Amino acid sequence: MNYQYKNEFRHHLVDWFNREKRDLPWRRTSDPYKIWVSEIMLQQTRVDTVIPYYNRFLEKYPTMQSLAYAPQEELLKMWEGLGYYSRARNLQAGVKEVVEKYNAVVPDNRHDLSKLKGIGPYTAGAILSIAYNKPEHAVDGNVMRVLSRVLHIEEDIALPKTRKVFEEAVDMLIDKDYPGDFNQAIMDLGAMICTPTSPKCLLCPVRDYCIAFQEGDTEQLPIKSKKIKTKKVIYNIYVAVDKQGNYLIEKRPNEGLLANMWQFPMIEMTKETTKDAFEKQYNVQIENYLNNDFMKFKHIFSHLTWEMECYLVQVQQLNQLPANAHFLPIGKIRELPMSVPMLKILNILN
Ligand code: ADE
Repeated sequence: MNYQYKNEFRHHLVDWFNREKRDLPWRRTSDPYKIWVSEIMLQQTRVDTVIPYYNRFLEKYPTMQSLAYAPQEELLKMWEGLGYYSRARNLQAGVKEVVEKYNAVVPDNRHDLSKLKGIGPYTAGAILSIAYNKPEHAVDGNVMRVLSRVLHIEEDIALPKTRKVFEEAVDMLIDKDYPGDFNQAIMDLGAMICTPTSPKCLLCPVRDYCIAFQEGDTEQLPIKSKKIKTKKVIYNIYVAVDKQGNYLIEKRPNEGLLANMWQFPMIEMTKETTKDAFEKQYNVQIENYLNNDFMKFKHIFSHLTWEMECYLVQVQQLNQLPANAHFLPIGKIRELPMSVPMLKILNILN
């Protein structure tokens, strides 16, 4: 694109953004902490889902200090249902570092920001451009889709090395007077106009600059190679209730998938029955199946599918429970952070 073209492109884009931008709560602030929170929540999660979480989170943690020293269980409860819980832990660790090392001032350069826990090239660029008005690229999947069409870039966006191609494209195109608006304009264009299927090209403010539109192959872009199939694991879940009406619940290990979240006991299903394994692992005896096969569903993580087959059982405790397991009343359990698949089970218990 020549100089004149680039200038027109950015003006059309930013003008459109000023007319049509979505009214989002994180667009009513320039506080870098709040923009940081929003950008972490928005990774892998839709805008509509994020809005209520964002509002509640900042009501609870209005300052970096309040988040930095919040108990982890409370933090996970605030994040419950959003998924990818390591985002919450990393955000807290990053914020704590800013409080302690930078006197609670979010760094305004890519070098220092990138060293913080949970801040990658996208998040650093988003904070710098939106909160600090720095002409920095913030390239995510939506930005790659839009620019692959505008500039007809045919590199495979599933490959990590491809992001650099798009970062250079943003560096070339970005509006140096309004970098935050420019980056957010591309995000909104990707969300509202330049959608993955059936893009609304007739409404697009930069249609005249879009090579894919001219070539008539917008739907063929971006090029994205297929992911390998995700692994499937089948679990039997034992929702086990004792004579007092308390439920058996355990905390997951403090590392790995869903770290420190609470769950009903889950036993991976191999060929044989899981009943013996459950009884042995938790030192309980099943006295009664209250409701055989009372719930069955799938939960898809990014890299893994859980198939859940649940049993509601009456148990007697024979010996000491494992260290992370407890019998608790349902009211207490509802206060603990649980993953979406476990919440599905919890929500049908009285
Ligand atoms: N997706 C990620 N960041 C966003 C932002 N700041 N506005 C709208 N959508 C987004």
